[in-house]
Amino acid sequence: MISVTPSGQGCGATVTGVDLASDLDATTVKEIRNAWLTHHVLVFPDQELDDIALESFAETIGPIGADPFFGTIADDKRIAAVSRRADETGPVFAEVWHSDWSFLETPPAGTCLYGITIPPSGGDTLFLNEQRALEEMPEPLRTKLEAKTALHSARRAYAPDGKYAPDKYKGSMDIRPSEEALAVFSHPLIRKHPETGRPGLFAGSYVFAFEETSDDEAADILDELNAWMTQPAFQYRHKWQEGMLVLWDNRCVLHKATGGYEGYDRLLHRLTIADDPTYYLPSDGL
Ligand code: SIN
Repeated sequence: MISVTPSGQGCGATVTGVDLASDLDATTVKEIRNAWLTHHVLVFPDQELDDIALESFAETIGPIGADPFFGTIADDKRIAAVSRRADETGPVFAEVWHSDWSFLETPPAGTCLYGITIPPSGGDTLFLNEQRALEEMPEPLRTKLEAKTALHSARRAYAPDGKYAPDKYKGSMDIRPSEEALAVFSHPLIRKHPETGRPGLFAGSYVFAFEETSDDEAADILDELNAWMTQPAFQYRHKWQEGMLVLWDNRCVLHKATGGYEGYDRLLHRLTIADDPTYYLPSDGL
């Protein structure tokens, strides 16, 4: 039986009593999924996962998802490296609140990130609970957000002239900007979690406008929303250790990288997990 200790912050829990490199039985997978749906971000310390074990753990949660705009660590692997060298000076990758690939028609359910080289301090990952941010939202703001359809696009980051264009980004990650980043996909700004039915926001930095408003009005609403939802009370600050695996639920949390580790290498391996209802827990399992 796994042991689950809540972080005491806006979301997140640490899970012990399980070796993720072993063949997990159906009961353990169900316990992990149940904890994931409850706490949204699960931290598994002290795991020894090679690439094969990392992929096979991810596949117990769902099929491995596509990673547009990233190369993988090898042709026969579906893992992407989140890396930064000690001597890099440009912007930290993903230092904005986002839900992974929210601009896709069916965004990934989850992401696994596994710590390989971790600096002695800095480089925390922040998470934000979009369900609590909605539950505790003042009525006037909620009224402004109800029935809004958010337009998501990867353009600002991954278009050929975006933040990670080769003439701007000189970092160590294998990021591959493309015209495909100009595509736009819409999702309701407030929606029920596809698996638990619990309402939450589905926001983040890929949202650039709303179908129902002018761009200026959308910018004002997004500023107000960001000021509300990024309060520390809704956040969990994750501190990394080598051998730690973090599994988060993109359907109800945003996340953001942080810097502060100049002079040290940082390397994590990352996999996204597609949203496949055949993996969902039956409602009596929640
Ligand atoms: C990510 O958004 O995948 C990276 C998070 C991090 O580097 O902390």
